[in-house]
Amino acid sequence: MDYLSSKRKNPDKDVRVIAIINQKGGVGKSTTAVNLSAALGETGRKILVVDFDPQGNTSSGLGIDKETLEHDIYDAVIRDYPVSDLIMETVAKNVYLVPATIQLAGAEIELVSAMARENILKGIIDSVKDEFDYVFIDCPPSLGLLTVNALVAADSLLIPIQCEYYALEGVTKLLESMKMVQNRLNPKLEIFGVLMTMYDSRTTLSNDVVNEVQSYFGKQVFKTIIPRTVKISEAPSHGLPVTMYSRINKGSLAYNRLAKEVIRRG
Ligand SMILES: Nc1ncnc2c1ncn2[C@@H]1O[C@H](COP(=O)(O)OP(=O)(O)OP(=O)(O)O)[C@@H](O)[C@H]1O
Ligand SMILES: [Mg+2]
Repeated sequence: MDYLSSKRKNPDKDVRVIAIINQKGGVGKSTTAVNLSAALGETGRKILVVDFDPQGNTSSGLGIDKETLEHDIYDAVIRDYPVSDLIMETVAKNVYLVPATIQLAGAEIELVSAMARENILKGIIDSVKDEFDYVFIDCPPSLGLLTVNALVAADSLLIPIQCEYYALEGVTKLLESMKMVQNRLNPKLEIFGVLMTMYDSRTTLSNDVVNEVQSYFGKQVFKTIIPRTVKISEAPSHGLPVTMYSRINKGSLAYNRLAKEVIRRG
């Protein structure tokens, strides 16, 4: 339980539990979980990343070899395995991880018959969250029971949106799910921020999409926009956040700026 030996930066502040969510696939959820956490960790904040996607991209992106894992978040969700025994160090400074593997795919089905099935992840995270400044949950690309668990466990949502045609497609559905959970299970749930990802300055399309999303979400959109860069897409194959793989890259600089904006938002 190495995570207990390091201290929070701001122990008097409430920890923030933020779900990185969008049921649309490939919009930059896991990339943001990895790189925002690494950038925040560099500022001395102590971060827990909960990988809640059976694809386990965030676990690999933080340098974890999933083949060597004996246990993962599935065991906590389905078998009551203590989450404190799952928390591991990562390549990134001050960033700790609860890993996921493909095993978690089974939980979506097994949870259907479980008691209080929407509240399981919340119980798991609540038992350890006070040790951290921020807890991020990386969600799978669906609105199934795993995602509902994330909506119940979170204080707020970080919604990555790719600068692409049909960027807002599906967002209404996501906001409906959010409303449903607010009404029944988690009244305090709010939007933490909307993040534009994979921005390509060479295209007018990217600008059009940013404008469209800004007129829909207003001030909720982060000022920082994440550019599309080769370094960001290469970094995971080295098991490193881009901020460690290529420090002076526009992708790294953007995630560092985003970290500052996140800190300013609370
Ligand atoms: N800013 C970027 N520049 C270049 N490539 C990027 C950028 N952000 C993400 N990518 C690449 O795009 C792909 C999808 O990103 P990512 O895995 O973060 O999306 P996701 O929303 O987590 O996907 P899924 O819904 O499957 O979980 C990955 O190959 C990633 O490396
Ligand atoms: Mg992902």
